Amino acid sequence: MKKGRVFLAFVVCIAVAAALTLAYAASKMPDKPIVIDSTTAIPDKKRGPVNFDHTKHKDFKCTQCHHEYKDGNNVWQEGQEVKKCSECHKKEDQGKQVKLEKAMHDQCVKCHKDMKKEKKQTGPTACTKCHPKGGDDK
Ligand code: HEC
Ligand code: HEC
Ligand code: HEC
Ligand code: HEC
Repeated sequence: MKKGRVFLAFVVCIAVAAALTLAYAASKMPDKPIVIDSTTAIPDKKRGPVNFDHTKHKDFKCTQCHHEYKDGNNVWQEGQEVKKCSECHKKEDQGKQVKLEKAMHDQCVKCHKDMKKEKKQTGPTACTKCHPKGGDDK
């Protein structure tokens, strides 16, 4: 009986620790480049996946790119779990929730273009610089 309880407590501790580690891993800014690949959301994808390095974007607030809207306000805060863009932005527009391709380009390409206009150092705007594996106009 006693042994059983100790074992149960042990199992619970491990489970809590694992859950915390997972939650932490899901919310901490990745320090290595990640690959953005929307094959699941867009099975007939035309372009190759895109590498994205958070460390090159660390001068920006997380909320510049991560959001979750409630009554028109971004209620997502740093430390909370990060959902994939494709969990909300689908293959096609859903009202104000624009389709995934537009969501990505409105975020990534728009910022790079705006900064380029201001003659600031920024990221690429050419298709193949983000989609290196080519596509329909490689
Ligand atoms: C310039 C835009 C941008 C900024 C700034 C940014 N992120 Fe991200 N982040 C992204 C994109 C895009 C993804 C990939 C989403 C997807 O796969 O759908 C991502 C993914 C993530 C992931 C998931 C990683 C994975 O491997 O799946 C975490 C966690 C994360 N970001 C945390 C943060 C935190 C914390 C900050 C602020 C310190 C931050 N991000 C700042 C754009 C950004
Ligand atoms: C929890 C759901 C959710 C997630 C996750 C999410 N979005 Fe959104 N996003 C929305 C909603 C809802 C709107 C519309 C907001 C409004 O105007 O009311 C929006 C708006 C946008 C807009 C502005 C619309 C436009 O016309 O350009 C961009 C850009 C965008 N999202 C990009 C992204 C990117 C990139 C990611 C991943 C890093 C992401 N979103 C993750 C729900 C989400
Ligand atoms: C708010 C502005 C902003 C947004 C949003 C943004 N970037 Fe950038 N990006 C920058 C700046 C500034 C640099 C230059 C950083 C440097 O050279 O130190 C950069 C650099 C880059 C680079 C070249 C550096 C490298 O990693 O080799 C790539 C590729 C890139 N961004 C991809 C993306 C992608 C993909 C997204 C969308 C998921 C994105 N960026 C969103 C501002 C932005
Ligand atoms: C700053 C980076 C960046 C640039 C520049 C860029 N894209 Fe993208 N694009 C992305 C990201 C990130 C995604 C979403 C990830 C994915 O689908 O692989 C995406 C998605 C797409 C998609 C939808 C998914 C698919 O493969 O069918 C198409 C089509 C696309 N881009 C075409 C283009 C074309 C054409 C250009 C040049 C006019 C371009 N992109 C320039 C970052 C970029």
